[in-house]
Parts: sequence; structure tokens; C-alpha cells
Amino acid sequence: MKSSERENKETDKSEVIVEMKNIKKSFNNNHVLKNVNFTLKKGENLVILGKSGTGKSVLIKCIVKLIEIDSGELFVFDENLLDLNEKELNEIRGKIGFLFQSGALYDSMTVRENLEFPIQRKSKGVKEEELDKLVKEVLENVGLINTIDKMPAELSGGMRKRISLARTLILKPELILYDEPTTGLDPITSREISELILEIQNKYKTSSIIITHDIKCAQITANRIMVINNGEFIAEGTFDELQNSKDEIVSSFFK
Ligand SMILES: Nc1ncnc2c1ncn2[C@@H]1O[C@H](COP(=O)(O)OP(=O)(O)O)[C@@H](O)[C@H]1O
Ligand SMILES: [Mg+2]
Repeated sequence: MKSSERENKETDKSEVIVEMKNIKKSFNNNHVLKNVNFTLKKGENLVILGKSGTGKSVLIKCIVKLIEIDSGELFVFDENLLDLNEKELNEIRGKIGFLFQSGALYDSMTVRENLEFPIQRKSKGVKEEELDKLVKEVLENVGLINTIDKMPAELSGGMRKRISLARTLILKPELILYDEPTTGLDPITSREISELILEIQNKYKTSSIIITHDIKCAQITANRIMVINNGEFIAEGTFDELQNSKDEIVSSFFK
């Protein structure tokens, strides 16, 4: 590749999905995000690894403006989040799937109804057959087509997590934000969910940020890992690169 081409590639804005520059966020005297910088590139699975209480959830909530930053610059799909009005912000949010840590399903609805709900809310008057097709397709993709008429209470924790993920996927997001996707699951189920995240990246061609303290989940899902501690990134690399880190905090995740 010629150097001019490489330069073009590096500055190609359409390849950047999220960019944070010098982001700060405090709650009173609690300085949660001190100076956060990163970019998420198109098609990438970026894992943000950190202990509990280090500001991981706050960080991804800033991306959808559930939490407002105090200072710094934040670009999502090449839009400066601070410049957007409510309508423009909702358009951006429409392209983002957020898998919350709790990922709660509606207990009184069947799996099918849980999955129909986000579509009916987004595009009113969608045809019955179309709805049925979308629900079945996404259930196939998370490996749970046989649960279509079940109630959430009949499912295991891992299955409920898959259905939550299906509910996010059914809107075909370009960016998925996963908040602790394996927390509360046993090791085998955690591995299955991590593998599913990887499959989704390949099948749906999404870009993702995966927040976790689970090193196994990071190993399976990440193209790149950034380690956050006390509201700042302290390391970045592939799993193999970080595995050899001499930094005490980084190496503690691998023990
Ligand atoms: N809405 C909020 N109001 C006040 N403090 C908050 C709020 N959300 C998070 N915090 C604080 O920010 C810190 C980081 O929280 P969080 O991002 O949830 O950590 P984690 O890395 O475990 O996801 C915690 O001290 C938490 O109490
Ligand atoms: Mg959290």
C-alpha cells in the first residue's frame, strides 16, 4: 500500500464508529471518568476490561447520552453528540443496540411477544408475516427457535440472556453496546454467550463495545482490549499482548 493510500485509510472517518476524546464525568466529588480516549472502528469488537466500580457502565451510557459528559468530545457515527437535537439524537440511538446488564424481559409476555415489541414500537403497522419472519430469523440466530411460545420464567439464565440479545438484534443495530454480558452466568453458559457475541459480529457485521471484568469473555470476543482503572485507560492490546503485561493491575485479570 502506498503511503498516501495508507494516510487516506487512517483518516477515513466512515471507518470510525465511536470516538471519545478527553472525556470527563464526575458525580459531585466522585470523579468517575478522568480522561477517557478511544476509538471504535467499523466491524470491530472492542472489549473494555475493568474491575467493578471503575466507570465502565457510565462510559457506555455516555455513548447513548443516558448520561451527559462534563467535558471532552464525543463522536458517534461521525456526529458530534453535543451538537444534536433530540430528533437527531434519537436517529443515532436507533442505530445502537444496548444490552443492559440486567437485560430484563417482560415477564408477562411470551418470547415471541418480547421480540415483537421493539419492532412494533419502532415501525407501526408492520405486517404480521414480516413480524413472524423477523422473530423466527433472530431466534434461529441465537439458537432458541424452540422457545418461541415459552414464558421468560420457563427459561434458564443463559437462555434469557440469549433472548435479551435477540431483542437487541431484531432491530439490526450497527453498533451494539454489551454491558457485562456474562455476569451472573456459570462458566459454561458464559462461554456460550461469548461465542454467540463473536458469531453476531460475523453474521450481522456489527461493531461492538463489550464491557466486562470476565477475562474469558474478553479472550473469546475481543479484537482489541482496553483496560480501564480509576476512570482512565491504563493498557491496550490484543489478549496475547496484555497477557504478558508487567503492570500489576493488568496482570491481575489473568490470574
Ligand atoms: N447516575 C449516577 N449517579 C451518581 N453516581 C453514579 C451514577 N452512575 C454511576 N455512578 C457512580 O459511578 C461509579 C462507577 O460506576 P459504574 O460505571 O457503574 O461502574 P462499573 O465499572 O462497575 O460499571 C460508581 O462509583 C457509581 O456509584
Ligand atoms: Mg457496570
